[in-house]
Parts: sequence; C-alpha cells; structure tokens
Amino acid sequence: MAVPKPEELKKLRESFQAKKQACFILGASGETGKELLAEILRQKIFSTVTLIGRRKLDLEEPLYSSVKQEVVDFEKLDEFAAAFQGHEVGFCCMGTTRSKAGAAGFVRVDRDYVLHSAELAKAGGCRHFVLQSTKGADASSSFLYLRVKGEVESRIKTVGFDRYSIFRPAVLLCDRQESRPAEWVTRKVLGAVAYVCPTLYSIPTVTVGRAMVNNVVMPGRDNQKVEILENADIHALGNIK
Ligand SMILES: NC(=O)c1ccc[n+]([C@@H]2O[C@H](COP(=O)([O-])OP(=O)(O)OC[C@H]3O[C@@H](n4cnc5c(N)ncnc54)[C@H](OP(=O)(O)O)[C@@H]3O)[C@@H](O)[C@H]2O)c1
Repeated sequence: MAVPKPEELKKLRESFQAKKQACFILGASGETGKELLAEILRQKIFSTVTLIGRRKLDLEEPLYSSVKQEVVDFEKLDEFAAAFQGHEVGFCCMGTTRSKAGAAGFVRVDRDYVLHSAELAKAGGCRHFVLQSTKGADASSSFLYLRVKGEVESRIKTVGFDRYSIFRPAVLLCDRQESRPAEWVTRKVLGAVAYVCPTLYSIPTVTVGRAMVNNVVMPGRDNQKVEILENADIHALGNIK
C-alpha cells in the first residue's frame, strides 16, 4: 500500500478540512472507537461528529463541542433512520463477543446491526463507509467469528457506497477495563512479540484510530470502490502523525 509522506498528508488534511464534512461513529465508547474519536477531534477534519450508540456518553465540554450524540435502539433501527442522515463518512467500530452476547447475540450485533446501520447510512447520504473488521475475516471460515466478519464485509459491498474501506486489524493492544481473561493473556504475549515484530500479530487501538483518519483524508486508491487494509497496511498508515 502506498503511504503518503507526512508533508503530503498535511496538505490532504487541510483540503479535507476545508470541505467541512460530517461523520458518524458507531462504537465510539469502545476501545478503538474512543481512539478514533480522539484523533478526529485532534485533527479537526470534520465539522460535525455524531456518535450513534445505545447509550449516551459523558463527554466533557469544550473539547467535544463539535460532537452530537444519537441514542438508538438497534432492534428498531428503522425508527432511528434520521440519526444516520447527513453524514458524508461513517465509521463502524461496533462489535461484541460470543462470550458476552452468546453466538446468536454476536451475529445479531456484528452482522445484523452493522449491516442495517450501513444501509441506513447509505440512504442518509453517506458516501464513504469505514468498517473495522478483523484479520482473517472469511465468509467461508468454519470459525463463527471469522465467518460473521467475512459475511458482514461482503454484504456491505452490495450496499453500494462510493468508497468502502475495510480495516482488518490483528489482536488489538489497549488497556481494556473490561475483563476478558483469554484476550488479556494473548495481549500480554503479543505485546512482548510486538517488540520484535510489531506488525505481525497485533496492533495498538490508537494506531487503528489514526490509520482510519489518515485513510479518510486520502483519495481512494486506483478508483477502487472497495479497499482492504490488512494489519501491516494499518500499521504503516497509522504510524504517520
Ligand atoms: N479485540 C480484538 O483483539 C479485535 C481484533 C480485531 C478486530 N476486532 C473487532 O474490532 C471491533 C472493535 O473492537 P473493540 O475491542 O475496539 O470494541 P469494544 O471495546 O469491545 O467496544 C465495542 C463497541 O460496540 C458497542 N456495542 C457492543 N454491543 C452492542 C450492542 N448490543 N448494541 C449496541 N452497541 C454495542 C459498544 O457499546 P457499549 O459501550 O454501549 O457497550 C462499544 O461501543 C469489533 O468489531 C471487534 O470484533 C477486535
């Protein structure tokens, strides 16, 4: 993947900023979503940011003066179509786990809620949709997690966004408050491996958030409507400050 030089990126940011566009974020309360929100606000690349979620977040002014919040019921999402209107860009960092929601609950959130949101976003005028998927997403996988991620990736392709960016990070490195023992052990091991091979098995959530923002200000690649960023691509893009 061609990565811009910092000075090129600065110009791209400035011209993107001048367009005064609006974006929404699904999953802004999550580990990646909060880093994404912080980076969007740091770079000031959108005039308005709407957080769409199932609960209202406690955000301190004045840092969040450009942030609006829409609380929706994902089980009755059509009733909340207005929340999705008027955003040029939509980011989705939403997801649950099988251990938290059960297999059916995981499919409901990570596939159905995400796809339905993408459809409402498109109907509401969204041109660029950015999906946080996962390394190894594959609709034909025998693993539920990878299969569902692969399914949602490909179903969103049919929604027909002008541009659709799929991020496939490996294990996320962050200081997660929520107890996920297996993930905690994996993170500790991979955190050590990351000293030697930083791009192989893991990625800090702050890098994913920054890569999403850097990607959005860049023009789409080779007129391709769909772009897939694998873990190494995300590292490369997210490491430019
Ligand atoms: N963990 C990893 O190592 C890893 C690796 C690669 C990809 N991923 C994927 O990356 C994405 C983001 O992961 P993350 O760890 O940053 O997220 P996270 O911290 O688990 O946060 C998940 C977000 O989704 C929302 N959410 C969860 N269940 C919901 C429900 N039933 N209804 C509405 N919203 C719901 C949460 O809202 P609340 O705050 O209201 O709960 C939160 O905003 C996920 O799709 C995940 O599968 C994860």
